[in-house]
Amino acid sequence: MRIGVPRETEEHERRVALVPDSIAKLVKAGHEVLVERGAGSAAYFPDEQYEKAGATLVDGFAGAVTGVDIVAKVQRPSSAEAASMPEGVAVACMLQPATSKELVEQLNGRRVSVLAMELVPRITRAQSMDVLSSQATVSGYKAVLMAAAALPRFLPSLTTAAGSIQPAKAFVIGAGVAGLQAIATSRRLGAQVSAFDVRAAAREQVQSLGAKFVATDLVSVGAEDKGGYAKAQSDDEQERTLAAIGRHIVDQDLVITTAQIPGRAAPRLVTAAMVRSMKPGSVIVDLAAETGGNCELTVLGETVMEGSVSIIGARNLPSSQPLHASQMYSRNMLTLLQHLEKEGALHVDLDDEITGAMTVAHAGVVRR
Ligand code: NAI
Repeated sequence: MRIGVPRETEEHERRVALVPDSIAKLVKAGHEVLVERGAGSAAYFPDEQYEKAGATLVDGFAGAVTGVDIVAKVQRPSSAEAASMPEGVAVACMLQPATSKELVEQLNGRRVSVLAMELVPRITRAQSMDVLSSQATVSGYKAVLMAAAALPRFLPSLTTAAGSIQPAKAFVIGAGVAGLQAIATSRRLGAQVSAFDVRAAAREQVQSLGAKFVATDLVSVGAEDKGGYAKAQSDDEQERTLAAIGRHIVDQDLVITTAQIPGRAAPRLVTAAMVRSMKPGSVIVDLAAETGGNCELTVLGETVMEGSVSIIGARNLPSSQPLHASQMYSRNMLTLLQHLEKEGALHVDLDDEITGAMTVAHAGVVRR
C-alpha cells in the first residue's frame, strides 16, 4: 500500500497521524509512506526521524495525497483539502460524523472512501484502533494538571516543619475513559478523590482506582445501552443526580466533568448555583465543553471566573500533549492500516465488522 501523511492544518492542532516508529513498521512490512515535510514537527517528531524510519518526505498537501491509496489524518480534511483529494483515494481521520455531512458529500463526489476513526466499534478486537479511548486518556490526564496549576493549594497532604497540609478533594463526574484517567492522575498527585457515574459498571472501576463512589443509589443497570454507553436520564433521575452532586460539590477543591451521551448535547450536571456554593479558589475543568459543557457556566476554549471559582472550558486537550497523543493515535492508525491490508493492497471490506462500521462513504455511496 502507499500511505500519505499530510501536515495537520486545523488551528491549534499539533498532532500527527503517524509517528516514525509506526512508519518503520509499515515500511518493514513492504508499504510505502509519503510524509509531508514538517508534518510531525509540532509533535516533536522532526523530518530526520521520518527519513530514518524509511518515509519519503514530500512537499505540501498535494505531495502527500497524490498517488497514495490511503491518507492518514488526525482532523477531517478542510473543504479546500477535500477539493484537492485525488479521485478514488481513501482517507482515515477523526471525521466528527455528526457535523460533517457536507464534507462527506464533497468527498464522496470525488469517490473518496471516508473512514471515521470515531466509529471503530468498541469491541475487544478493535481496542487497539480506538482513538476515542487513546485520546480521552490524554484529556483525563491533562485536565488534572490544568486544575492543579490553577488551584491556589497543593494536591497532596504534606507534613512539614511549617505545619501540616490536608490533601485537596477532587471530584470526577463521569467515569468513562477520560474520567478514570483523571481519577488515577489526581490520586497519583495525592488528592482525595471521589467520582460519580450513572453506569453500574463504572462503580467498581472507580473503587478499584481507590476513589470513593458518590451517590451509589443513583446508579442503575438500565442506565446503559447494549453498546455500554450511558443513556440520557429521565427528568426524575436528573433531578436526583443534581441534588446529589449539589450536596457533594460544596466541599470540593477540583472538579473534572466528563459526562457524555453519544450523539447528544452533554448533560447539565453543575448549575451556576452549585458553582456559587463552592469553596473560594476551587477549579472546574469541563471536558464536555465541546458538546455544550456539563457546567452551566462553561465557555468553550475559555476560563470563566464565577467569583473566585475558575471554570475551564477545555478544547482539544490531546493536542496540548502532542507527542504522546500522536504516539497513541499513530498506534491506533497503524493497527487500522494493518487491518485494511489484504495481500499488499488496501481492501475496504464493508462486510467486515470493524471496517463496515467505520466506513462512511465508499465507491460513490454515502453509507450513513
Ligand atoms: P463517554 O466519553 O461517552 O462518556 C463519559 C462518561 O460519562 C461515561 O462513563 C458515561 O456513563 C458518563 N455519563 C453520562 N451521563 C452521565 C450523567 N448524567 N452523570 C454522570 N455520568 C454520566 O464515555 P467513554 O469513555 O467513551 O466510555 C463509555 C463506554 O464505552 C463505557 O461503557 C466503556 O466501558 C466503553 N468502552 C469500551 C471499549 C472497548 O471495549 N473497546 C473502549 C472504551 C470504552
